[in-house]
Amino acid sequence: MPNLEGKVAIVTGAGRGIGREHALALARAGAKVLVNDLGGSLAGEGEDATPAEQVADEIRALGGEAAADCENVADFAGAERLVRHATDALGGLDILVNNAGILRDRMLVNMDEAEWDSVINVHLKGHFAPTRHAAAHWRERSKAGETVRGRVICTSSPSGVFGNVGQANYGAAKAGIAGFTLIAAQELGRYGVTVNCLAPNARTRMTEGTFGSIDAPEEGFDPMDPGNMSPVVVALCADEAQDITGQCFFVYGGAVNVLQGWSPGELLARDTRWDADELLAELRERFPSGAAPAGMIAGMMSAGGQSLSATQ
Ligand SMILES: NC(=O)c1ccc[n+]([C@@H]2O[C@H](COP(=O)([O-])OP(=O)(O)OC[C@H]3O[C@@H](n4cnc5c(N)ncnc54)[C@H](O)[C@@H]3O)[C@@H](O)[C@H]2O)c1
Repeated sequence: MPNLEGKVAIVTGAGRGIGREHALALARAGAKVLVNDLGGSLAGEGEDATPAEQVADEIRALGGEAAADCENVADFAGAERLVRHATDALGGLDILVNNAGILRDRMLVNMDEAEWDSVINVHLKGHFAPTRHAAAHWRERSKAGETVRGRVICTSSPSGVFGNVGQANYGAAKAGIAGFTLIAAQELGRYGVTVNCLAPNARTRMTEGTFGSIDAPEEGFDPMDPGNMSPVVVALCADEAQDITGQCFFVYGGAVNVLQGWSPGELLARDTRWDADELLAELRERFPSGAAPAGMIAGMMSAGGQSLSATQ
């Protein structure tokens, strides 16, 4: 396992699910962990300090060092306090795992403004705000002449990169996070910071509604175990991963697929401006069966999520 001894990590939304697994895995690899979680419902209602405190206790019981934090990641000033909490209580900041999230699924035609705003806010601003303050911390250290090995791991989703029905708010935020990753990677490289993102798939309270109850097998490997996501985080946080940045990793069970996002596709080129009629005719010729997204399940299966076929 990569040795993260001496490093300090913040994991947002680490009181439950995938974030809890990331926090425990980083601690097992030797990192000190600030366990952030607002502790609300799946829809983002309410607050409760218990989940963050419990995971910090679990890390201490393993012999690691941890502190609990209950800031709302989508609060710009709260995110600044979150970063300061890590530097003050744990002595620095090397790793930021942006993982906190909520869900308010609804078909687009019925989605109300609050459902849109809350989901965009927690995911997209909840990635921007902690990353912004962590980046300022790393820039300061880099400008002071220190060799920084900063790490940001963002959390996108198959819903964002492949597109899932009923999740216009969530999928748009998650696609935005994949785009944010690309830009942050290019901007922060100069300070020694890598920025990557995960498109995870695991059994948590968040996926119960999407994939039904896929129970853990009685014995053997459980591909839906949320702990399957965390080795990717630990690997990317190693000093040896200093030149891997701006990538989006689909993860399901033992499948880790380094996705290719928007990349050049079918080129329709001419030396002058297209006439709309001619362009339409060319599109009909190039795409005789039309062109439409395959959807999330098909995308996940082509990326290596084989056993999801059972849920179709
Ligand atoms: N489970 C999956 O298969 C899956 C698939 C794709 C993406 N994701 C993403 O993975 C991440 C973790 O999801 P999960 O499945 O573990 O769900 P989860 O609900 O178990 O965990 C999310 C945690 O984030 C916390 N949180 C929510 N809003 C917060 C805020 N404003 N500030 C701080 N904490 C907040 C919640 O309290 C919760 O503990 C999310 O970003 C989710 O969108 C999960």
